[in-house]
Amino acid sequence: MTSSSASFISLLLVSSFLLGSHLSLTSAQATPPLVAGLSYDFHATNCPSLETTIREYLREIFSSDFGVAAGLLRVHFHDCFVQGCDGSVLLAGSASGPGEQAAPPNLTLRPRAFVIINELRNRIHRACGAIVSCADITALCARDAVFLTGGPDYRVPLGRRDGLTFATRDATIANLPFFGSRVPTLISDFARKNLDVTDLVALSGGHSIGRSNCVSFVGRLYPTRDPTLETNFANNLTRVCPTNTSPGLTALDVRTPIYSTINTLST
Ligand code: HEM
Repeated sequence: MTSSSASFISLLLVSSFLLGSHLSLTSAQATPPLVAGLSYDFHATNCPSLETTIREYLREIFSSDFGVAAGLLRVHFHDCFVQGCDGSVLLAGSASGPGEQAAPPNLTLRPRAFVIINELRNRIHRACGAIVSCADITALCARDAVFLTGGPDYRVPLGRRDGLTFATRDATIANLPFFGSRVPTLISDFARKNLDVTDLVALSGGHSIGRSNCVSFVGRLYPTRDPTLETNFANNLTRVCPTNTSPGLTALDVRTPIYSTINTLST
């Protein structure tokens, strides 16, 4: 099992929140096997305040910016699919080239999510020393983003090591699923990460929270509207994005009650 798939199995517990009551949770709730080197109590002795620090800090942040929870969840996904869950998406570029954040699929990640992860790293390293990886902090942020937006709580195995290098632009593009892909392509994209169709469906439920920029879907509205789009849905999207270069934003899932009432569209 790769480290990216192992980390994502924890995230599958998100499915009760993502898919509502329509999916049996039996398989998703089974305790996944741990990757060698990871354990639930990895920081129990050397940083016992780790998980409380993250949860309480995020609780405070989300009280004024609920939307950034979605940003944190997405950062973990974009970290894990490129080189595994190694924190490489957090790295700034270097003389060797721009970092992963400069690659097109990452341009719509929320800048504030990175600021929050950095602030948590500073707080945790002040309290415990530089012994907790940014990859672990990112995974815990994703878990707490799910929990604090009304999803299930789940345990996250810890002990990831941060990567020292980031992926190139081409490798980043090649590893992150393209937003215009059809289902067969997404199935094979996930299979390359050792994730199956059930994983794809459950994890796609990550879109129960968050937002999309017009740029991610105007290709289905212009120059010709995709005839398979439901008419009212397409009309609403056209109002949000009246041209193919509109800068608008829309909620990804307008029917998720918690999100439609508390949605914030901040950066
Ligand atoms: C199946 C392949 C996937 C594709 C093609 C995809 C694509 C996208 C796109 C195009 C957006 C909108 C970006 C924008 O325009 O701002 C988005 C947002 C989002 N995605 Fe995915 N995604 C995928 C899987 C996932 C997974 C596995 C997760 C996490 C479990 C996830 C979590 C999110 C979240 C939370 C947002 C909202 C971010 C925000 O509000 O800042 N996505 N995704």
